[in-house]
Amino acid sequence: MRICVVGTGYVGLVSGACFAEIGHDCICVDLDVSKVERINRGEAPIHEAGLADLLARHAGARLRATTDLAAAVRDSDLTFIAVGTPFDGQRIDLSQVIQAARAIGAALRDKRDYHAVIVKSTVVPGTTDDVVRPELEHASRKRAGVDFGVGMNPEFLTEGVAVRDFMQPDRLVLGGIDERTIRLQRAVYAPFAATPVLETNNKTAEMIKYASNAVLATLISYSNEIANLCSALGGVDVADVMRGVHLARYFTTRLPDGARIPAGITSFLWAGCGYGGSCLPKDTQALAAHGAAHGAPMPLLEAVIETNRRQPARMIALLQRHFPCLAGLRISVLGVAFKEDTDDVRDSPALPIVRALLQHGARVTAYDPVARVNGQRLLPPEVTWVEELEQALAADAVLLLTRWRQFERLPALLAARADPPLVVDGRRMLAPASVPRYDGIGR
Ligand SMILES: NC(=O)c1ccc[n+]([C@@H]2O[C@H](COP(=O)([O-])OP(=O)(O)OC[C@H]3O[C@@H](n4cnc5c(N)ncnc54)[C@H](O)[C@@H]3O)[C@@H](O)[C@H]2O)c1
Repeated sequence: MRICVVGTGYVGLVSGACFAEIGHDCICVDLDVSKVERINRGEAPIHEAGLADLLARHAGARLRATTDLAAAVRDSDLTFIAVGTPFDGQRIDLSQVIQAARAIGAALRDKRDYHAVIVKSTVVPGTTDDVVRPELEHASRKRAGVDFGVGMNPEFLTEGVAVRDFMQPDRLVLGGIDERTIRLQRAVYAPFAATPVLETNNKTAEMIKYASNAVLATLISYSNEIANLCSALGGVDVADVMRGVHLARYFTTRLPDGARIPAGITSFLWAGCGYGGSCLPKDTQALAAHGAAHGAPMPLLEAVIETNRRQPARMIALLQRHFPCLAGLRISVLGVAFKEDTDDVRDSPALPIVRALLQHGARVTAYDPVARVNGQRLLPPEVTWVEELEQALAADAVLLLTRWRQFERLPALLAARADPPLVVDGRRMLAPASVPRYDGIGR
């Protein structure tokens, strides 16, 4: 099929490259000329496992990028909208979606074939039918369901493993206003014949995405609340507590041969310095705001958000248990990406933590194996950035903020030092006895 994807961020570019991989012709559209040029040269503008290989294979052939949205829509059978949907402090900011819908609508004026416009961006329930559809109808001067289709196909990929998630989906959610719109999406995803497919209306598709993200955020904040109580009580470590929780049959499957397989959800039932990234923070806030605006406040979700907002400050409090005054102290931050295997630092807990350290007068050094450039853009210039993990260890304390695999080397690296720093584990990834001086969330 001929597919157009508008927006070449983490979702748009990964989707476009994967569409090419499964045999479609894909044109990716972005306003950002430099991204378009990089994609056409076969270079990945973001760090995402497997993406560079896909671009090397398909760029210039089945995958092209352009700034010419009208031509891309004209030359394709369906268009996915994958632009950003940030939270503006009050509600979801749909300006990128609206702008894209208007441009797509204008391009539809000259189209004869039934073209489907599919929202892939995460948008609050009702957006596709009540905002995108009228924008398309107005700009195209045509009627949805008669001249073109409107659908909603939420994306569930996880940054860091986005290509794998796209190529091996857990489920496909296909929303649409009519059978033709659904049929076109079915054809796109035909290669994933073994994947469960849920065909539904647009509002349900939108809600499935929010409900999926909100439950993950809820489990993280729940674990952090338990962690903070453990910390206040003393003599109980949240890591031991959570291991005990995970072993329940609801979370760990027992195979006939006696082997026990923990469910993936257990990685969210784990304490830390808070969730971040470009999805959970903004999506939970947008959903709670949407609920309140529709007379259905969501106090549980509000508490999830509030617990997460406070969690980064726990790292500072932990540090102050050992160093009451942080002024002049050498503190290294290990990891600024919001999670491992990505260069995305949007809403990363590392950002408020570093800013708080600087406010306390600490001398901050930062290390991240891939997110350094993005981190430097968002953090004050006083932060010293180092290229190697070892360089970050000449410090009074190191704060472990991202679960990078590289940090598993810390016990060995610190054992070799005469003056090992205190390790404050914001992800509870190291065994407490594995380093000379250890503290962590929930101890
Ligand atoms: N990042 C994730 O892990 C993830 C996962 C699932 C869903 N989502 C959702 O997918 C959507 C995109 O997220 P992202 O992280 O890829 O965003 P992003 O900010 O990385 O990328 C958005 C891209 O859209 C481009 N753009 C904006 N307006 C445009 C327009 N009118 N025409 C052409 N290009 C335009 C921007 O230049 C940018 O390159 C969001 O709604 C997000 O919530 C994200």
